Amino acid sequence: MVEKNSAILAVETSCDETAAAVVVGGQEVLSNVVASQDELHGKYGGVVPEIASRAHIERINPVIRRALEQAGISPSGLAAIAVTNRPGLIGSLLIGVSAAKTLAWAWQKPLIDIDHVQAHIYAAQLGRERAWAFPAVALVVSGGHTSLYHCRDPLDIELLGQTTDDAAGEAFDKVASILKLGYPGGPIIDRLSRQGNPQAIKFPRSWLGKGSLDFSFSGIKTAVLYHVRGQDARSRQVNLDETSRADIAASFQQAVVDVLVGKTILALQQQGLSRVILGGGVSANSTLRQGMAEACREAGAELFLALPAYCTDNAAMVAGLAYHKLRAGLRADLGLTGRA
Ligand code: KG4
Ligand code: ZN
Repeated sequence: MVEKNSAILAVETSCDETAAAVVVGGQEVLSNVVASQDELHGKYGGVVPEIASRAHIERINPVIRRALEQAGISPSGLAAIAVTNRPGLIGSLLIGVSAAKTLAWAWQKPLIDIDHVQAHIYAAQLGRERAWAFPAVALVVSGGHTSLYHCRDPLDIELLGQTTDDAAGEAFDKVASILKLGYPGGPIIDRLSRQGNPQAIKFPRSWLGKGSLDFSFSGIKTAVLYHVRGQDARSRQVNLDETSRADIAASFQQAVVDVLVGKTILALQQQGLSRVILGGGVSANSTLRQGMAEACREAGAELFLALPAYCTDNAAMVAGLAYHKLRAGLRADLGLTGRA
């Protein structure tokens, strides 16, 4: 049951998307506006923090205005203002935090601080008729994170393992850059892989010892680099035909997916749980979604996947989680600041 007067406006600026959304009752998305900065960072092959902060300043007010207009709601109809204040790029976070604090003060609304990783986990609940259930193992895979959690409820999560070097999304972006495919690399590799053979090249799978729930993706990135450039890794030449490019993309993707799925199932067994939640930008990957679904079926576990629109950074997931904090009486004050 959606409660009246529970519409929350959320702002998300932790990395390179300027986003605002209005969500009712933690579930019903009235608007979800995302202004991407991909075209600004593309030529650098990754996010440039200073450029990201400046772009957030230019975009934040129009994005918030559009989110309210699309939701057809006036400030008086809002129950609270929520904002991602951790973790992320500090300059980027501060733009969203300043905007949210200003609105909370001007409109006299409660302010709610949100952890970006917890919001990615919550994304699987948005726009769904069937409520998710706890406890569960959650895998968050994005450009900044690759972490496994034991979730007792949307606000109570315990870290089980994380990457010791690159995040999975970072590996996708770097491999796309090695193959000269463009930025962000994840969606491009996902598409290109459909034409490639995932068994063509045996790239290494890094398991980090028996029972480990940590991840490492720097080795596979280097393996792709050596495969592409031969033993002379300093060479800038990339002479690959379309089939080789697709085979490398598909083989790399399969190696990453094997490890992500394998460690999630290991976490389920270690924790004695039977539910999996998948979130973060890389969870939009079609091979990962399919591989995780098959593995969960075999393990007799239930899988909760975010809808594709809520996998990459957005503010709807922030507004959704904020509803639970508002109900629990967990509010921030106007001294709120960003935490990298
Ligand atoms: O969650 P997100 O938008 O931002 C962070 O919190 O980091 O994730 C962005 C990452 C990028 O590295 C992007 O390449 C990756 O998610 N990504 C994908 C796909 N869509 C986005 N990776 C693999 N397959 C995809 N379909
Ligand atoms: Zn994210």
